[in-house]
Amino acid sequence: MKHNKAQTNTWHAENYRKHARFVSELAMPAVDLLAPKSGEKILDLGCGEGTLGLEIVRRGSEVFGVDLSEKMVAKARANGLEAEVMSVTNMPFRAEFDAVFSNAMLHWVREPELAVANIVRALKPGGRFVAEFGGAGNVHHIVEAMRTVFTRHPEFGIFDDFWYFPTPEAYTEILERHDLSVTYIELIPRPTPIDDIAHWLAIFTNGVTKHLDEAQTAMFRQEVREELKSTNYTEDEGWVADYVRLRVRAIMKG
Ligand code: BEZ
Repeated sequence: MKHNKAQTNTWHAENYRKHARFVSELAMPAVDLLAPKSGEKILDLGCGEGTLGLEIVRRGSEVFGVDLSEKMVAKARANGLEAEVMSVTNMPFRAEFDAVFSNAMLHWVREPELAVANIVRALKPGGRFVAEFGGAGNVHHIVEAMRTVFTRHPEFGIFDDFWYFPTPEAYTEILERHDLSVTYIELIPRPTPIDDIAHWLAIFTNGVTKHLDEAQTAMFRQEVREELKSTNYTEDEGWVADYVRLRVRAIMKG
């Protein structure tokens, strides 16, 4: 299965900045786990508009960002990060980086083996890979609400929940198979307050609704929002996305 271009190329930079800032704001523990050092060369996979890449630069490393979204790469460059439009499934790098870092991107990639093979090939001997992305159980209620709405509307076709949310065990197996030694891996439930699930759905589910017309898409979002009121909304806390992060650090063997 392929990296979902329909989804990743339709990021709307302004909406993302307004309603999904938490994606990079909550990722500092992953940057801390990376522990970038002065003079290191680091590849930031799924750099978005460059927020975390620039934080890594601030900590003394040289960063090259890649992202599938042209708009995000343009924004990253405007913000001062060196970046290119590129897919992790199609990267040319050979032994160039001291570390590969990735936040909130690898759950969009349906070919985890190919992604990891390309990551390993990009690393210098002894290099490290640090990532955080959706793990097993991530956005479970949201995905189930989407499934319910698709089942209610056979005219919507088949529900394709294309995200990759592995368990620590399954991901460790893949990494170890590709000559990476896992030094840390943890599944971290991280319920995340968001402003309104309607914005979340508009930003993140274009891949699910890409074959629906405008009216169907509006109906889909409205009904999913209704479904989620019982699981992801309270008067006191407002909307909460049921995120579960998989945080991992691995080092090249040998
Ligand atoms: C995530 O960051 O976990 C995520 C975002 C959008 C859709 C699915 C998962």
